[in-house]
Amino acid sequence: MPEPTGYPILDDLLPRLARVEELDAAALENEHIAVLGRKAGILTAASKQIPTLPPEERRAFGAAVNRVKAAFESAVEARRAALAEAARRAEAGAVDATMPARRRWSGAEHPISATMREVGEIFRGLGFVVATGPEVESEWYNFHALNFPPNHPALDMHDTLYVDGAPLPGADGGRQLLRTHTSPVQVRALLAQAPPVRILVPGMVYRNDPFDPSHAPAFQQIEGLVVDEGITFVDLKATLVHFARRLFAADVRTRFRPSFFPFTEPSAEMDVECQLCRGGGCPACKGTGWMEILGCGMVHPRVLENCGVDAERYTGFAFGMGPGRMTMLRHGITDIRTLYQGDMRLLTQLGA
Ligand code: PHE
Repeated sequence: MPEPTGYPILDDLLPRLARVEELDAAALENEHIAVLGRKAGILTAASKQIPTLPPEERRAFGAAVNRVKAAFESAVEARRAALAEAARRAEAGAVDATMPARRRWSGAEHPISATMREVGEIFRGLGFVVATGPEVESEWYNFHALNFPPNHPALDMHDTLYVDGAPLPGADGGRQLLRTHTSPVQVRALLAQAPPVRILVPGMVYRNDPFDPSHAPAFQQIEGLVVDEGITFVDLKATLVHFARRLFAADVRTRFRPSFFPFTEPSAEMDVECQLCRGGGCPACKGTGWMEILGCGMVHPRVLENCGVDAERYTGFAFGMGPGRMTMLRHGITDIRTLYQGDMRLLTQLGA
């Protein structure tokens, strides 16, 4: 900052010179023109006065003008450089390579969907084709055609969710309900198509259960049905053991336990050795070393006949599994609600 010169026209500029470092880019250029501009700048005007002064004053005044001019020029230059540097830094800041990247969420397959897809791939390899049916069914398809006796407890309002409205007329009618299993699609398939039948039926089913650690009011099932001449329990067992080996492990141990379903005879449940403790016994398998994965059996002759299939000529087997349950067993999930809460952390952790 130059010393006061004693010339008011120059000394008036000193406070403005001091403020140059505060100017923004536009104000800086305006100030540059106002002070140093070739046509109307204040210092330019001062320079033009030099020849009009008495000769003995010209040298001192000229030197003072030059000092103030040099100071102004270097202040403007310094301010321009500082503004350019700030702009460069602000721009670089917008793509600050040191800033932690925002995590990109690209979605993930739900673990139940993954299980269903894998089950589907295994059965597709065995020649099964996918079939589907409605989720709102009549009593006939869901129960009666499947050989449930009219007073079966599953028909009770406590298990089955009935749909408001008049019962459907006709032999295949009855009260309307949300299907409690995918087995009614067995009936629809057999009515629609003559054997051989080899279908896989994925879909939602509904039960009047409270949402608790081991029950969901709506969940997925995958049904299978094979009907042809000469189908025996050996076909059932070979198919399902092959399936378990493909889904779990080539050396997985399996066992069949006798069970009961109205629509199969004989009926069984298949267990695989617990995937978490490898058969040793743990909380997930309640210490048994086994996990039940599906119900199955030979199609009851009465079901075949209800669907117009000659039960003397044809036999078949059916199975039904819960991919939600299987997913819990695979991942050691102990509360089924974990799978249905839409918690992104589940997908982040388990999703493919
Ligand atoms: N529908 C039965 C259930 O929901 C499962 C099953 C299907 C059993 C096919 C045997 C054959 O429990």
